[in-house]
Amino acid sequence: MTELDINVKVRVFENMKALEPKDEALLQAAKGALNNSYSPYSSFKVAAAVLLENGEILTGTNQENASYPVGICAEGTVLSAVSAMHPNVAVKKMAVTVKSGKGLVSSPVAPCGICRQRIYEYEMRFNSDIEIIMMGEEGEVYAVKSIKDLLPLAFFKM
Ligand code: THU
Repeated sequence: MTELDINVKVRVFENMKALEPKDEALLQAAKGALNNSYSPYSSFKVAAAVLLENGEILTGTNQENASYPVGICAEGTVLSAVSAMHPNVAVKKMAVTVKSGKGLVSSPVAPCGICRQRIYEYEMRFNSDIEIIMMGEEGEVYAVKSIKDLLPLAFFKM
């Protein structure tokens, strides 16, 4: 028997001002998109902003549905937009942030399991890591260099 030691490095920033200007701008773009969220059922707005390798920034937000499972997460919305409009361009970074109608979110919120798999597919497709930057409404910011840090031993298929 051997053991696999899986280490994950999460960089913790005191607040968004402590980020590199480029990363702060990406997070700001996500915050700016929050009001595009259609979330009448959860009152929980989620926004994701991606930086493409061509320098472009795209945003997406959660889009809910009266039939709850039909809803799409912010990360899925923005990745579908990238895939539809820039099918040959790699994603370099993604910033995720939230705003709750039920109370202040003061710690970072990370992508759900399904979205981790979606982001992983994108990394594999372009053989290019995607840095994930996460923040609540205020407080600390977490950053990981690749979705593999949030989804170790990810499912893949040749
Ligand atoms: N949501 C996202 O947009 N991204 C995630 O990674 C997790 C959850 C959305 C789905 C739903 O509209 C709302 O958050 C509350 O669960």
